[in-house]
Amino acid sequence: MVSPAASPATGQSSGQKGVILSGMRPTGRLHLGNYFGALQNWVDLQEDYRCIYTVVDVHALTTVETPQDVADIQPNISEMVMDWLAAGVDPERCTIFVQSQVPEVLSLHTLLSMVTPLGWLLRVPTFKDKVRQMDETEETVNYGLVGYPVLQTADIILYKADTVPVGQDQLPHLELAREIVRRFNHRFGDTFPEPQAKLTEVPLIVGLDGQSKMSKSLDNHIDLASTPDETSQRVLTAFTDPQRTTRNIPGRPEVCNVYSLHCTFSDPADTNTVYDECTSAARGCVDCKRHLAASVNTFLEPLRERRREFEQRPDYVKDVLNEGGKRARSIARQTLDEVFEKMGLGSYVDARP
Ligand code: TRP
Ligand code: SF4
Repeated sequence: MVSPAASPATGQSSGQKGVILSGMRPTGRLHLGNYFGALQNWVDLQEDYRCIYTVVDVHALTTVETPQDVADIQPNISEMVMDWLAAGVDPERCTIFVQSQVPEVLSLHTLLSMVTPLGWLLRVPTFKDKVRQMDETEETVNYGLVGYPVLQTADIILYKADTVPVGQDQLPHLELAREIVRRFNHRFGDTFPEPQAKLTEVPLIVGLDGQSKMSKSLDNHIDLASTPDETSQRVLTAFTDPQRTTRNIPGRPEVCNVYSLHCTFSDPADTNTVYDECTSAARGCVDCKRHLAASVNTFLEPLRERRREFEQRPDYVKDVLNEGGKRARSIARQTLDEVFEKMGLGSYVDARP
C-alpha cells in the first residue's frame, strides 16, 4: 500500500489526523518542566499528525528591552532547537523553523488585525497579566503586545493547522484565534479551519525548591542539557520534608518534592521503596537525593547522546532550520496568495514571483 497522502507542499506524510502547529518563544535551554509540559507531547504527536513546530522569535520581541535581550535571541534559538532535537523532535518527520524566516506571517498578522476588534484583545487574561507584570498600563504598553494573540493566530492559520497542542494558559488565545477565523471566513469566504487546542496532560513537575512548579525564573530547574555532575549537584540542593530535621525522624513523602520527582523519574518499584524507607526513617534525605539524581541522569542520557551526535556537526541546526523555513515558506506563500485574492488585494505570488 502507498503511504498516507503526501502533502504537495512538504513531501511529508500528511498524517492521519490533520495538521499540528505549535510554537515556543526562544528562551534558551529548556528544562525538565518544559519537557513534560510540551516537548514530550510534540514528539508523540509526530506519529499521527503532520507537525509544524516554530520558534516564535517575533513574539519574543514583545518583551525585549535591553541590548542584551537582543544579543540573546540568536543563541537562545539555537540552544532551544538543540533541546527539541535532543528530545526527539525529528526534522525528517516534521517541519521545524524560525517564525521570522517566513515573513508572510507578518503580513497575515496585519491583515488579520483588520478583522480583530480591539476589545477582544484588551480582554485577554494573558494580556492583562503581562501589562501588570511589566509595570505598564494599557496606555504605555507596546502595540505589539496587544496584538500578540493576532500574531499567534497568524502562526497557526498560515499553515491551515487545525490542532494546536498548548498548555491551559493558552486557551484564551485559541478561543480568540477561532473568533478571528470565524470573522474572516464570514467576511471573505471560507478559508481557514477553526483551530482546536489540544491540552497536554502534564504530570506536575515540581521545582527543586518544593514551592512551585519547575521554572527557569525561579531557578529551581534542571536543564535538559545539564551534565551528569551538574544534574546531581542541582538535585542535592533540593528541599525535602521541612519537618525532617534529623535523619531519625520519619519523613512525609506526600509533602516532599524529592518524592514527587521520584514518582516521575524512578521505577514504580523503587518509588514504593522510597516511600517505605522514608516513612520508617530507614533512608536519609541525602541518599534519597543521590538516588533521584541517578534516576534523572538515566532519563537524560538518551537526550545527551543525541545532542552529542549533532553537536559534532556545527551547521546541523542551521541546516535543519533553513530546510524547515523553506518548506514552511512555500506553504505560507500559497495561503497568503489566497488571502490576498479574497481580501481584494490581487495575487500575492504573481506580484512577487
Ligand atoms: N503564545 C505561546 C506561548 O507563550 C507561543 C506561541 C506563539 C504559540 N505562536 C504559537 C503556541 C502558535 C502555539 C501555536 O507559549
Ligand atoms: Fe523526601 Fe526522600 Fe527525605 Fe523522604 S527520604 S523526606 S522522600 S528526600
